[in-house]
Amino acid sequence: MRAVLLALSHRRFIGRLATRLPFTRPMVARFIAGETLEAALPALERIRAAGFHTTVDILGEAVRSEAAARAAAAAYVAAIPVLDDQGLDHNVSLKLSQMGLALGLDLVRENVARVLTAAAAAGAFVRIDMEDHTTTDATLELWRELRPIMAGSGDVGVVLQSALRRTPADAEALIAEGARVRLCKGAYREPATVAHQDKADVDAAFEAVMRRLLDDGTYPALATHDDRIADQAIAYARERGIGPERFEFQMLYGVRRDLQERLLRDGWTVRIYVPFGGQWYPYFMRRLAERPANVTFLIGSLWRERRAR
Ligand code: FDA
Repeated sequence: MRAVLLALSHRRFIGRLATRLPFTRPMVARFIAGETLEAALPALERIRAAGFHTTVDILGEAVRSEAAARAAAAAYVAAIPVLDDQGLDHNVSLKLSQMGLALGLDLVRENVARVLTAAAAAGAFVRIDMEDHTTTDATLELWRELRPIMAGSGDVGVVLQSALRRTPADAEALIAEGARVRLCKGAYREPATVAHQDKADVDAAFEAVMRRLLDDGTYPALATHDDRIADQAIAYARERGIGPERFEFQMLYGVRRDLQERLLRDGWTVRIYVPFGGQWYPYFMRRLAERPANVTFLIGSLWRERRAR
């Protein structure tokens, strides 16, 4: 099921069709805060008022034209002052394939530099999401090259995926560089040559890298909805005297709200990743792939809507 959904997430034709059909909306709205920043603002405000932090993702990936890549960068540049005006966290997450990675390094470098320059002016934080393993080297190299733009004002961080076999070594290098790392399990389908295939191995790798980041990382972000791992992080932090000011939990908009609230109530810092935009299809399909029960729920809601018409 996971493999099929992830394969479907790359089908542009289905994506174009899905984004035109109104019947998927209720299920989509569970994971996506709106089609525009204005539409997402009430959700962002609600999350902030409840005591959470936020990072905003303007949905889009694998762009195929220079114009689309430039437009994506411009959307981030425009969003940062709006978040500022609204008193929301100026913290954004972007993808290099959205900034034109497939179209050439010069283009992606220019686009990301534009976003970082705007972020530095606002003292904002930019997270470069990690995509599939073919992009890991380019992502880390670009982060190293462009990080100086943010020296002294805001910062730019990266993401590591515990599924990848290379991640413990990348984590050590990034710890030594004082990088702000978000650790996640990894949302992409990867070959066995580069990635663990068993969930137990991915989880064990997460736990090991998590401990290294908690000990020596620079304000790491633990991005997971896995309550067993969250509880382990808490136990480890308590044992080592690591307080909530030294790291944060991150979770996706619409996923495990019970866990989000529990961690917040217990005094931990929790940041919600809030995506918005019209290009929601691949992101949505990855969320379905993460939990088969989401598919059953989707089919149920499509069936109910069909009967109501
Ligand atoms: P796991 O998949 O084991 O799920 C644990 C439990 O969480 C499940 O049993 C279920 O209850 C719940 N759950 C998880 N996903 C759910 C869903 N979609 N719907 C409903 N319930 C769900 N990946 C990547 O490759 N690059 C990146 O840059 C990022 N960035 C990122 C940011 C943030 C803030 C988060 C939380 C996650 C990412 N990810 C990511 C995605 C990540 O790699 C991973 O695919 C998902 O977080 C699912 O893994 P869990 O750690 O939640 O564990």
